[in-house]
Amino acid sequence: MVRHNLVLTSPTGKLVLVAPTAQDDDDAIAKMRTHPETLRYLSFLPRSLTLDEVAARREARLDDPKTYDFNVYPAGEKGGKPLAVTGIMDIEEEHDACEAGIIVDPGAHRTGLGTEVLYTVLKFAFEKKKLHRVQFQTSANNDGMRGWLDRVAGACYEGTRRDGWKGLDGLYTGIAMYSILEDEWREKTKPALLMRMRVEDK
Ligand SMILES: CC(C)(COP(=O)(O)OP(=O)(O)OC[C@H]1O[C@@H](n2cnc3c(N)ncnc32)[C@H](O)[C@@H]1OP(=O)(O)O)[C@@H](O)C(=O)NCCC(=O)NCCS
Repeated sequence: MVRHNLVLTSPTGKLVLVAPTAQDDDDAIAKMRTHPETLRYLSFLPRSLTLDEVAARREARLDDPKTYDFNVYPAGEKGGKPLAVTGIMDIEEEHDACEAGIIVDPGAHRTGLGTEVLYTVLKFAFEKKKLHRVQFQTSANNDGMRGWLDRVAGACYEGTRRDGWKGLDGLYTGIAMYSILEDEWREKTKPALLMRMRVEDK
């Protein structure tokens, strides 16, 4: 199987999104994925990760043709610490649809990083992969992600799958479902994100 080796540059040129490789900083990824702030709304994720577990997850997802994972780094700082992980997954070719996901390093929340990363991923999904629908699933009480989807992206809230996720603590959480369609991307979300970032499309 051919693995992707794409490098996407964010619209400001400050960030690069690259396929995770064995050289990546697995330790930083483990810390980001198990940080209490990350886990607050992702209660089903493991509380700790070994480097072997991070590597096994990375390799399995790289082999999955329905998934494009990216690690996000500051542009021009080879070997720098990843600032976020993102990607599209569950690509349904027959329906031109996928899901998108993101985890921003908690130290960089609310600095505009999520907007820049999600703009780059959405542009990839709609304009490169020619998908029609990108879906987001997030915990119903995830004010950060829902705030971004509602107020920044203007995504369509489709409803909540009640008790859709079971946390490791045994408690259930509703999953708020959102989507963006290709024409909404072109006419609404893309211009709004470009304006927020104060950049033009290249
Ligand atoms: C949700 C997340 C991706 C947002 O990324 P970010 O870099 O903080 O977002 P940006 O700085 O680009 O955008 C900030 C906007 O998002 C929304 N937002 C972000 N955090 C918020 C919060 N805690 N409460 C309400 N709105 C919030 C607001 O609209 C905010 O705009 P404002 O600052 O003008 O009010 C980030 O907080 C994150 O990775 N969280 C942990 C992992 C996670 O929950 N991922 C989603 C799993 S489905």
